[in-house]
Amino acid sequence: GGKRIRPILLILSCQVVGGRLERCLAAAAAVELLHTFTLVHDDIMDHDDVRRGRPTVHRRWDEATAILAGDGLVTMAYQSLLRTDHPELIGIVQKFTEGVLVVCEGQALDKEFESREAVSMEDYDGMIEKKTAKLIRVACEMGGILGDGTRAEEEALGRFAVCLGKAFQIQDDLLDILSEEEVLGKPLGSDLVEGKKTYLTIHFLNHAPESERRLFQTLWQKRPMEREAVLQVRDLFDRAGTLEATRQAVGTFIDHALKHLDGLKPGTARDDLGALALMIRERVF
Ligand code: IPE
Ligand code: IPE
Ligand code: MG
Ligand code: MG
Ligand code: MG
Repeated sequence: GGKRIRPILLILSCQVVGGRLERCLAAAAAVELLHTFTLVHDDIMDHDDVRRGRPTVHRRWDEATAILAGDGLVTMAYQSLLRTDHPELIGIVQKFTEGVLVVCEGQALDKEFESREAVSMEDYDGMIEKKTAKLIRVACEMGGILGDGTRAEEEALGRFAVCLGKAFQIQDDLLDILSEEEVLGKPLGSDLVEGKKTYLTIHFLNHAPESERRLFQTLWQKRPMEREAVLQVRDLFDRAGTLEATRQAVGTFIDHALKHLDGLKPGTARDDLGALALMIRERVF
């Protein structure tokens, strides 16, 4: 299951610099395995019961099983990566490993922000750069290296990926409150229930009038937070212009991502990278 966005990005990044698909398949699988590990452990951290329309691993079995499944997935990711045949394999493994560490840092910040009162948009930006954009960046840069691209191409791919990754996470925050479980495969309002600082909560607290902010805090602090309260918050976000501002933020990051593609050779792969970025902007799951 899953959209497989990261391996697709890795493959297209390899192709856009003129590399062949077969050279990067093992690395593409590694990136997806690593991503799957982050999801299995993320669902424990976020106390989520549903993923991709099915019970999460710790729900279907138990936490010990999910921790072990995650550990196994990281290991399998490395097994796959090490099947890669490339003279720069050590540098590629180092990049991948640094990526794992940065994603863990990003996840730590995400958890820490739950109980921190003041989280600014800059704090949020730094957090999503680590928890989400980093792995997308690693995927694109690895593709560039495996395709024997130039340093300049690798850097253009990296810049494209950071913008795309941020757009992807902001859209994920938006879908959390807009998209129903049947479509999204994840529970509606999970971020609100968990007390997450998302693009939406930060924007709202920075912009909504005092009375609306107080109503929001009352709804947000009550536990358990029922579906009705989530829908009321959605309405508050709508009236404060937060939903629209969030859509715009996604659009701006996608525009920036597309600009970075200018630094790459024109052709089918570059067109596909652009089309994928536009799909991410329009996605509903
Ligand atoms: C979900 O990633 C986790 C985030 C970084 C927001 P995806 O939305 O790519 O998850 P799948 O693999 O398609 O299920
Ligand atoms: C997850 O962010 C980022 C990861 C590194 C897994 P979220 O916690 O928002 O992802 P979802 O919404 O559960 O997929
Ligand atoms: Mg989560
Ligand atoms: Mg999370
Ligand atoms: Mg999310």
